[in-house]
Amino acid sequence: MIEECFVRDGKFCADGVGIDQVVSTCGTPCYLYAASLIDEKYKKIISSFPGFEIFYSFKANPNVAIAGRLRSLGACADISSLGELEAALKAGFEPRDIAFVGPGKTEQEIDAAIRMGLYAIAAESVQELALIESVSRRLSMPVNVLLRINTLEKPSSPEMMVGGPSKFGFDEESAVQEVRGVQLDSARLVGIHVYSASQVLDSGFITKHLDYVADLALELSSQLDFDLRCVDFGGGFGVPYEEDQAGLDFGSISHAAAGVRKRLMEQAPGCRLIFEVGRYLLAESGIFVTTALRIKESRGTCFIITDGGMNHFSRPVFMRVKHAARILNKIALENDTRCSIGGPICTPIDVIATDVLLPRPEAGDIVGIFHAGAYGYTMSMMNFMSLGAPAEVLADAGRLHVIRKPKAPAHVLDVSTPDRFPIRHGFRV
Ligand SMILES: Cc1ncc(COP(=O)(O)O)c(C=O)c1O
Repeated sequence: MIEECFVRDGKFCADGVGIDQVVSTCGTPCYLYAASLIDEKYKKIISSFPGFEIFYSFKANPNVAIAGRLRSLGACADISSLGELEAALKAGFEPRDIAFVGPGKTEQEIDAAIRMGLYAIAAESVQELALIESVSRRLSMPVNVLLRINTLEKPSSPEMMVGGPSKFGFDEESAVQEVRGVQLDSARLVGIHVYSASQVLDSGFITKHLDYVADLALELSSQLDFDLRCVDFGGGFGVPYEEDQAGLDFGSISHAAAGVRKRLMEQAPGCRLIFEVGRYLLAESGIFVTTALRIKESRGTCFIITDGGMNHFSRPVFMRVKHAARILNKIALENDTRCSIGGPICTPIDVIATDVLLPRPEAGDIVGIFHAGAYGYTMSMMNFMSLGAPAEVLADAGRLHVIRKPKAPAHVLDVSTPDRFPIRHGFRV
């Protein structure tokens, strides 16, 4: 995938932009995204699931320029905070195309979501359902509610959220009884929401999940006596982070989705069918770009010490995922040296790639960590060691756009001497 998407004539190239241009525009570390890959993934998913809507999950990457691009391709939005709501509105999403999901919504958030007229709020517990009802009644504004269900499914993913005790949603077996205990006059049940896991690479699980959720939605709408107008299937579509991992078999999922759609349209005509998707759309479009400051050998291991580490890209460390890496200025050279890549952070866990084969590294090389487009910038710990925050840039048809400026340490620390120690490696934006 990397060679196919990011190498042209033996050189690194992201949508017509070379690595020199990236480094001279914003220095390193930075996040670089390739616009064409975002477009391609969106088109692939939308063509695989006719009749389904894609709600873009802002938690994967709330950058307004990226979200705006997905909006212009036709996506709706899935948000989990007022900050994400603000980003979604800035990116051009209409309130009626936004759903609010998350296990710990405050009264203030629910109030804002109802006043704003969002499409729906997912209720994740009986207490939250009662709170949504009471806010809706106080405002005299009706609101659509999706019941989030903690199903009895068993997804095979390290990031699963259903199947056992869970902070997400109503337990499937007691949902009817719990919901019946809340008098709903203003909040209106319109459907269910089941997000079972993230980073699912088992197509078989997803195909079964679609049928399971469709059956459950029909059953709950009948037992709780509401018109089924929406089924949010979650999704959790995974990407192959490791070079030898296989991707999802979209053919089989697409086939199952068509069957489920037909069945639901017969029994609940006009029902909205939703996937909430983040990672699948963005992970592969993004690269965390760093400069090698030092190359050192230690007891048989070659370490590349880069100017960006787990502070700016925490995912590989916290999620224990082996991301692919390349030396971007030597992308066509033979990978003959086994290396570990660590940043400047004073903890032994700051190793963002281990045991990767690369061309012989030298100080000054530009090192890229791939599949960093989702849960990269947004899931990192930008304040750690007060190194500021990197830029985000988007390559698009030969042009490079700075879509988030880098932040100097003083900015991140919120102190009043922003210019004394500017951004670490000479950004020029
Ligand atoms: C409720 C919900 N929806 C959508 C997503 C996005 O999932 P993904 O990035 O795997 O597509 C998540 C991720 O955790 C989630 O919790």
